[in-house]
Amino acid sequence: MILKIFLTFLFLHGLVLNASSSSSSSEEEDGGSSEKDSGEHHPKGVPHGGHWGYEDQAAWSSEFSHCSGKSQSPIDIDTRRALYDRSLPPITLEGYDLTDSLALTLLNNGHTLQLVLPNTMRITSGFDNEFRAAQLHFHWGTKEVPGSEHTIDNVHFPAEIHIVHYNSKYANLSEAASKSDGLAVLGGFIGIGLHENDNYEKILSALADVSIEESNTEIPAFNVRHLLPNKLERFYRYNGSLTTPPCFQTVNWTMFNDTITVSRRQLAALEDTLKAGQHQHLTKNFRAPQLLHGRHVLASFTDTPTIIVAGHPGISINTLSETDASNSEGPSTGPSEVLARGDILAIAFGALFAVTLLLFTLYAYQQRKKYCSIKKDSRQNVIYKPATKEEA
Ligand SMILES: *[C@@H]1O[C@H](CO)[C@@H](O)[C@H](O)[C@H]1NC(C)=O
Ligand SMILES: *[C@@H]1O[C@H](CO)[C@@H](O)[C@H](O)[C@H]1NC(C)=O
Ligand SMILES: *[C@@H]1O[C@H](CO)[C@@H](O)[C@H](O)[C@H]1NC(C)=O
Ligand SMILES: *[C@@H]1O[C@H](CO)[C@@H](O)[C@H](O)[C@H]1NC(C)=O
Ligand SMILES: [Zn+2]
Repeated sequence: MILKIFLTFLFLHGLVLNASSSSSSSEEEDGGSSEKDSGEHHPKGVPHGGHWGYEDQAAWSSEFSHCSGKSQSPIDIDTRRALYDRSLPPITLEGYDLTDSLALTLLNNGHTLQLVLPNTMRITSGFDNEFRAAQLHFHWGTKEVPGSEHTIDNVHFPAEIHIVHYNSKYANLSEAASKSDGLAVLGGFIGIGLHENDNYEKILSALADVSIEESNTEIPAFNVRHLLPNKLERFYRYNGSLTTPPCFQTVNWTMFNDTITVSRRQLAALEDTLKAGQHQHLTKNFRAPQLLHGRHVLASFTDTPTIIVAGHPGISINTLSETDASNSEGPSTGPSEVLARGDILAIAFGALFAVTLLLFTLYAYQQRKKYCSIKKDSRQNVIYKPATKEEA
């Protein structure tokens, strides 16, 4: 009976060990994957606003040198490799709740649909400094080609929203854009849902007014918070760049894990209404995912058992990412958080192991004592004690 518990335990413990060793080996791969190549230095300063398009994105770097840097955006977010960082501060937005007493400029700049935002909209916590909003815009594809810029486990979403903020220590977006701590972009994945999204409709209903390149219109302001996903506390964070020329590597990226949905009709309106140039449709305005070059992607959340990385307080590796999504409740904040499910399992198995080992040792000790005393008795050939008596 005790032996059976012991064997069962060994089996379970084997599973736990397997899980942890596989995750630590993937960490090693990641650390070793930093591609080193020829020393290319930053040439001349700010590139003069040349023409560029999404069809020739492979050639952007010939005119815009930063576009071939090593911290470019967008990237593929590999959810299994994202490092859970429980110390990532949650994002607080202020001044997002605009009302229709204000009007906002909506424009088609030939590359995207952009809404100009007042700098009273701010990210007041989540970064080392306060960041002020400048504009938001979208990236999309066609009915056949999903057009998000970032991908999740190599899969594109139909579209993506970017809300661009600049560090309030700089005067404006253009001054901040080239500074290493200049920009913070909040990004959301847009998918297709069953219902119309009334908040997105506040922008999309004016699409026809900006169908021509370089045209703009005014729309009544509204609560811009409602364009973002419901849950802001679950996000990915990495150091990246502008996804359009001049590709400055100055963006502190936040991509939310929760997604936004619009109706099929609304997405089609975004894909079909705008023109770039005389005849072309403005579609597929997304840049391909860029190489990580050894960068890490942090996650503010974890759904799965975690292993703490030695020497990196606060950072741990997600394991077993395909376990059930049923326990995807709120964020875990601060070091005083309740133990992760993995920790509880580990402790339970540890305790079970200890108890089993103790019982097994006692059992073994008793058996040996019995065996020894029998041997001793038989060697000395004195009085023979039947074993049954000792078992009483
Ligand atoms: C991005 O913001 C995080 C959180 O404040 C900060 O730790 C990190 O250094 C920032 N990245 C850059 C490139 O400034
Ligand atoms: C941004 O700020 C700089 C420095 O104050 C100023 O020279 C420039 O004109 C401003 N640009 C815009 C677009 O407001
Ligand atoms: C981003 O860059 C900053 C400044 O170099 C660094 O402190 C931070 O750790 C980086 N963040 C990530 C997620 O690598
Ligand atoms: C959100 O996180 C879960 C858990 O890691 C992952 O499976 C899912 O693909 C993520 N989705 C997005 C849009 O980030
Ligand atoms: Zn963008």
